[in-house]
Amino acid sequence: MDKPKLIVDGKRMDGRAMDELRPILIKAGVLNKADGSAYIEWGKNKVLAAVYGPRECIPKHDENPYKALVRCTYRMSPFCSLEEHGRRGPSRRGTEISKLISNVFDTVVMAEHFPKTAIDIFVEVLQADGGTRVAGLTAAAVALADAGIPMKDVVCGVAAGKIDGEIAVDFGKYEDNFGESDIPVAVSPRTGELLLLQMDGMLTKDEVMRSVDMAISASMKVHELQVAALKERYAEKEKSGALGGEGDNGGGSLPSDAGGGRQGMALQPVPGDAGESAR
Ligand code: CDP
Repeated sequence: MDKPKLIVDGKRMDGRAMDELRPILIKAGVLNKADGSAYIEWGKNKVLAAVYGPRECIPKHDENPYKALVRCTYRMSPFCSLEEHGRRGPSRRGTEISKLISNVFDTVVMAEHFPKTAIDIFVEVLQADGGTRVAGLTAAAVALADAGIPMKDVVCGVAAGKIDGEIAVDFGKYEDNFGESDIPVAVSPRTGELLLLQMDGMLTKDEVMRSVDMAISASMKVHELQVAALKERYAEKEKSGALGGEGDNGGGSLPSDAGGGRQGMALQPVPGDAGESAR
């Protein structure tokens, strides 16, 4: 495919401004059988995260006597995109993203409270459209909080970089594939600390700084949605009497689909953004 024009009359392909996020929906507690879970729709990305643990660490030789092993498996489904169409099993890219998400959570999870155990995070990309690693990481943080795992912060991620000569945030697939540079970052919103910074392409030092600043500002908006999703989850649990009680972790089902009719599942506009982009 030839490179499309990524910016026309100062607007991006989907009509967004340079600092505007795609619409984001986050729902916590969507799986009955996981200790914690979350579903995120971020633009056209659809990603599920499930957390199990702290639980017995298998294989035993991975066990750490001083803290829990925090490990993530990121996987794209065989139907999530044209590139992945029909592909199964592990890939180099999946291994890389699993490792970087594991590393981010290893720094924020209070793993020393659970020696000799494992905390497993599974990120399943159901539909991909650019930025799945940051969408997966953002959902995984909500799933960990839903599982009641103590953490220093509910972290989130956003990518920024350069497209058609302009610094912009949150790239869709074509912006990611045809832009000049892409910098996914993960942030601890409480401290502003950077927990992940990757980069491809070429940028000047000034452009890197501007991109990172823009990604951090956008992360704060994403974080508000994480907190809202967790509050909604706790309100649901409280209502059903599940808080402090036995058994059923109250898991719901997946939202039907974009804008779909379930109460409380309407697409959340990103706080502070002027307009919502078309989905
Ligand atoms: O998803 P993320 O932006 O973190 O990763 P990427 O490797 O920069 O890929 C950008 C986008 O290309 C993905 O989000 C997918 O839409 C697409 N892609 C894909 O469909 N299959 C792959 N194996 C790699 C990328």
